[in-house]
Amino acid sequence: MHRDSFLLMHSFIIFFVLSISSLATAQQRHFNVSLGSSLTPTKTSSWLSKSGLYAFGFYQRGNGYSVGVFLAGIPEKTVVWTANRDDPPVSANSTLLFSAAEGRLVLQTPQGQDTYIADISPTVSYASMLDTGNFVLYDSDGGLTWQSFAHPTDTLLPTQRLVVEMPLISSVSKTDQSTGTFSLTLSGDGNLVQYPKDDRTVQTIYWTSGINELDDKLILTLAEDGNLYLVNATGFNVWNVTDGQVWSVLWINSDDRCDPKGLCGLNSFCVSNDLEPGCNCLPGFAPVIQGNWTSGCERNFTSESCKKKGKKYSIRAEDNTIWVEDSYSVLLQTSKEDCSKACLDDCNCEAALYKDGSCKKQRLPLKYGRRSSQSGSIAFIKIICYRKKLDQSLPEDQVILEEWVYECFEDGELGQLVGDEEVEPKQLERIIKVALWCILDEPSLRPSMKKVLLMLEGTVDIPTPPNPTSFISTI
Ligand SMILES: *[C@@H]1O[C@H](CO)[C@@H](O)[C@H](O)[C@H]1NC(C)=O
Ligand SMILES: *[C@@H]1O[C@H](CO)[C@@H](O)[C@H](O)[C@H]1NC(C)=O
Ligand SMILES: *[C@@H]1O[C@H](CO)[C@@H](O)[C@H](O)[C@H]1NC(C)=O
Ligand SMILES: *[C@@H]1O[C@H](CO)[C@@H](O)[C@H](O)[C@H]1NC(C)=O
Ligand SMILES: *[C@@H]1O[C@H](CO)[C@@H](O)[C@H](O)[C@H]1NC(C)=O
Ligand SMILES: *[C@@H]1O[C@H](CO)[C@@H](O)[C@H](O)[C@H]1NC(C)=O
Repeated sequence: MHRDSFLLMHSFIIFFVLSISSLATAQQRHFNVSLGSSLTPTKTSSWLSKSGLYAFGFYQRGNGYSVGVFLAGIPEKTVVWTANRDDPPVSANSTLLFSAAEGRLVLQTPQGQDTYIADISPTVSYASMLDTGNFVLYDSDGGLTWQSFAHPTDTLLPTQRLVVEMPLISSVSKTDQSTGTFSLTLSGDGNLVQYPKDDRTVQTIYWTSGINELDDKLILTLAEDGNLYLVNATGFNVWNVTDGQVWSVLWINSDDRCDPKGLCGLNSFCVSNDLEPGCNCLPGFAPVIQGNWTSGCERNFTSESCKKKGKKYSIRAEDNTIWVEDSYSVLLQTSKEDCSKACLDDCNCEAALYKDGSCKKQRLPLKYGRRSSQSGSIAFIKIICYRKKLDQSLPEDQVILEEWVYECFEDGELGQLVGDEEVEPKQLERIIKVALWCILDEPSLRPSMKKVLLMLEGTVDIPTPPNPTSFISTI
């Protein structure tokens, strides 16, 4: 019985330990591939390693095929490396040729677009799928010219090493190996860090090994026994990541599946339901793309500038959530109520993060949110209101009223204007249209009294009135 393991970069680091009877051996054995050999997705689709555990070649991806290294010796073919992972899958008519003329591996598609599997100088004379899972290319002197181990995608295999700033980047999903969201990188200061791949800051790093060796020559090594550790330039073990822990099937670096930043897109926050994480939109927001978490959420209205005050807002609270803070103003020693009101009264404020008396006013979008029951932190979100009673004696309110009536007219929701009262809809629409014509600031545009009567009777058609406020701004 042999234990084998690999490190898979998901949103968390995960170790799998496979039990493979007598398949793998401690010794590296070659299986040579000579120039002129070729593979196709449906006939000879891969070259096996000597033990049969690993294979290099085509594997099915979506409706097509990609080229990579996968575990062939177990029922669940697990992909551990993919060539050109962001290229679209190719059709069943494609060929992978170990071209004698070019001395390299060429992926040929029926459309005639050739891509190269390893970007190297054309001096290769043979290739090998090693029993370690490393696919290697040699020159005529047996010198190693290229190896898949030096170009990791999302998986680290035993004996494979990760050098400083060579990231493991998670895949989009189990079935789509293209570049995903999360990165595991050994940084120059000796720290092993996890962060969203496009956003590496002190705030976005969601896991770190916490050591500071200040040594940019460290190497992360996954040993054959499954131990993961850092060695320095003289090969000295300076830090055990697994630290001699006994782990059997799976090891992850945190229990909280909401830890990874970037799981949920902008204006949404991660919620741990039992084991699986999920994403919720902020109050007043809806998903940009249904079913796609990373696309985030958006409001169904646009906020207005500070100059033009028309819409009425209110505040909704999302309790126990934490966010990346990017505030433009911080109020100290405030109450929850004052914080909520401060945001409501500030036309620049779209959200406020409140904790322990401090009120941080923010603009959108809110980023990397998550539910955190112990945080005691509240997000106040500005949402558009469904109408407060207005005091018509105030000039400002009058403008708001006109705009509101026009909006209701535009949206075909005139019923909102009369509340519970029963009004014949056609008659109501006529009255409102006439009213909107009559309140125009420009007198020459207002209809005559005689015309108004004909309009109200329904004797003449009423043209669609212009927006009272937009008309003002065009004069
Ligand atoms: C692979 O080819 C190299 C160079 O020709 C040779 O030294 C080695 O023995 C071959 N290995 C196997 C398993 O055939
Ligand atoms: C493969 O090639 C054959 C013959 O050229 C063609 O009929 C078929 O549609 C092709 N299939 C795909 C998936 O491109
Ligand atoms: C590696 O670590 C050992 C033990 O701390 C130390 O003696 C050695 O000098 C280090 N090597 C380098 C190149 O820093
Ligand atoms: C790591 O663990 C090994 C035993 O598994 C031990 O020999 C070594 O000293 C440890 N390294 C450090 C830096 O603690
Ligand atoms: C989800 O949305 C993101 C960002 O809008 C996009 O890049 C990605 O392709 C989408 N994923 C799927 C599976 O549609
Ligand atoms: C905006 O979203 C809210 C909440 O989902 C909904 O009640 C409202 O009708 C929407 N408004 C518009 C104009 O779509």
